[in-house]
Amino acid sequence: MRTQIGIIGAGPAGLFLSHLLHRIGIDCVVLENRSRHDIENTIRAGVLEHWLIDLMNEMGLGERMMREGRPDTGITMQFLGQRHHLDFEELTGKKITVYAQHEVLKDLVAARLAQGGPLLFSVSNVAIADVETDKPRITFNDAEGAPQVLDCDFIVGCDGFHGPSRQAIPQSARQELDMHYPWGWLGILAEAPRSWHELVYSNHERGFALLSTRSPMTQRIYLQCDPHDSLDAWSDDRIWAEMQERFAFPGWELFEGKIFQKSIVGLRSFVCQTMQHGRLFIAGDAAHIVPPTGAKGLNLSVADVVMLSRGLDDWYKKGSKDRLDSYTETCLTRIWKYERFSWYMTTLFHRNDAETAFERRIHLADLDYVCSSKAAATALAEIYVGLPIG
Ligand code: APR
Ligand code: PHB
Repeated sequence: MRTQIGIIGAGPAGLFLSHLLHRIGIDCVVLENRSRHDIENTIRAGVLEHWLIDLMNEMGLGERMMREGRPDTGITMQFLGQRHHLDFEELTGKKITVYAQHEVLKDLVAARLAQGGPLLFSVSNVAIADVETDKPRITFNDAEGAPQVLDCDFIVGCDGFHGPSRQAIPQSARQELDMHYPWGWLGILAEAPRSWHELVYSNHERGFALLSTRSPMTQRIYLQCDPHDSLDAWSDDRIWAEMQERFAFPGWELFEGKIFQKSIVGLRSFVCQTMQHGRLFIAGDAAHIVPPTGAKGLNLSVADVVMLSRGLDDWYKKGSKDRLDSYTETCLTRIWKYERFSWYMTTLFHRNDAETAFERRIHLADLDYVCSSKAAATALAEIYVGLPIG
């Protein structure tokens, strides 16, 4: 098999890249080791930045998102028992859309298959070779187990944090920086009606809580917990009691319902300071991770592949290497702003047991500042709605 661009991974980065390349007439093949059913049913975050909404519409991928997604003009911040609306639309002129990542993936997969793919699910043993030459290759076993070779002009690793692509960059050529937080998120999906018209980020004595939604009758709620907690320690009754406390607000009711999904994830930040090596590029979670507060993972992954598609366009149409050569630098400039934002949102809203009484007062002053100063609120809003993609 031969293609121009071999893409490993059919998450947001890989699927968006395949669409962006198709749009500019560049061939690609996407190789994914999970099944279509699996990738379409893995629960992740669900906030889309304003430019991504425009991009999806421009690419003809936004029809269901426009129908089923919820355009939000802002968020609610809760602390010391009070609620404050941060009006992004007033502060920035822009909105966000709440639409789940797996729904985006369903739309991208269906559209890609309708265009004829190729999008190969359930492959195995993906390995990258010869990226330092101008004939890089991917070897893999197809869904039937037959060995295959994909000859490419370039390989793009969109295979998430645990995929093989980043590891294919020699250790001496990459620098990895990370940070672990002492906090986890217990995430649940519940069959319950919406309790509030927008996302609620609550900083509470008992720990952070986030009220989000998936559809009018399915709610997504997170609670700060110990990252080493076992799900067994979190009965449905304990979860609802904890949520009732952390979101408590006079005259308001948190609607309860059947919890049908629970998970616990630890929070971390990670950046690989090199995103290319020879003819291999990495994008999205393969290159960086943000903690989930602010829901930047998907948005950041798509921004990477937008930059990369521009570089590949210049390479094929103009014979120019400049944009490909500066891919890492262009992406990292944006990535570090988002790393800062996600770290800030995380530290702003989580309860930190290691804080001194003094630091706790500074922390509360920061929350109060964002809710009382237009300048401070705008600084948060500007990145929440998404920095322009340029
Ligand atoms: N071979 C083929 N595919 C692989 C391999 C492999 N060896 N390893 C991983 N993959 C696939 C995964 O199964 C997954 O579908 O690569 C895809 C990577 O997708 P994501 O992890 O979603 O990464 P990305 O596209 O960068 O999107 C990041 O998605 O995971 C969320 O929170 C994350 O919002 C962030 C966004
Ligand atoms: C989500 O809906 O999953 C979500 C929303 C906002 C966040 C994080 C996650 O900040």
